[in-house]
Amino acid sequence: MKRPPETTQPPELVAKNITKSFGSFQALHDVDITIFPGRVTAFVGPNGAGKTTMFHILTGNLRADRGQVLLDGQIITQLQPWQIARMGVGKLYQDVRIFENLTVFDNVRAALLSPEDYSLFSACRFWKHSVQARRFHDEAMSWLEYVGLADSAEKKGGELSFGQQKLLAIARLLAHKSRLLLLDEPTAALSPVMTGKMIALIKRMIEDRKVSIALIEHNMRAVRALAFYIYFMHEGTVFCHGTQKCVLENPEVRELYMGLSGETI
Ligand SMILES: Nc1ncnc2c1ncn2[C@@H]1O[C@H](COP(=O)(O)OP(=O)(O)OP(=O)(O)O)[C@@H](O)[C@H]1O
Ligand SMILES: [Mg+2]
Repeated sequence: MKRPPETTQPPELVAKNITKSFGSFQALHDVDITIFPGRVTAFVGPNGAGKTTMFHILTGNLRADRGQVLLDGQIITQLQPWQIARMGVGKLYQDVRIFENLTVFDNVRAALLSPEDYSLFSACRFWKHSVQARRFHDEAMSWLEYVGLADSAEKKGGELSFGQQKLLAIARLLAHKSRLLLLDEPTAALSPVMTGKMIALIKRMIEDRKVSIALIEHNMRAVRALAFYIYFMHEGTVFCHGTQKCVLENPEVRELYMGLSGETI
């Protein structure tokens, strides 16, 4: 497959009429969304609204029954997850996925390898003998510094706290040159201090990496600090969308969210 061209522009992703059922249960019904270039687009709504299902469809991990996904105007609906990842779309999973038995440093270094380098044998040979080994080392360390994990480089991934594992997963996405980051509940189960760090990191990635970010969050502190545009989802549909004021001050949204989750917005 031809490699997609490099671009410095933050990407825009559009999904139209997305419908998805699991057996007789309809998880998404005719959902239209836009992830805005160079901004944080937030997806909020009660448990089971279909937010994670939507992300899995955008990254090719699930197939929609109907609808279309376009990245920078190119249809990607039928592509495999690895092809979509190669086009610069990366996801932080709700359950966070890193290599627990590799060091923190090797987690990031592995993400730097191009798909052609993916066999373990060629990777080891490459790391030992290549003149580029130093550059790979420096680049991996620079991503760890960027997310604040340089001091933990030699630890095993599994030794990190849950919050640190999320930072590591984001460092891997950046090392992989992801330009559109889909972050599924990045602040869930984090302490207030770690939540603050995550919010600051997301802001920084928008400002100096010029990425586009789609953010699923239940934490309204994070949504208020970050969102340029909000989709409020409910029972597989977009109940309402717009600016923060338009969505979060909407009495129907507040009532619905509080009634279903017991939390205030
Ligand atoms: N693989 C699956 N098989 C059957 N049902 C599924 C599957 N994945 C998701 N669902 C159902 O689809 C609905 C939407 O789930 P989804 O995980 O997208 O919700 P969510 O908005 O991300 O919720 P939360 O905020 O709790 O993470 C839920 O009712 C869920 O049980
Ligand atoms: Mg979810």
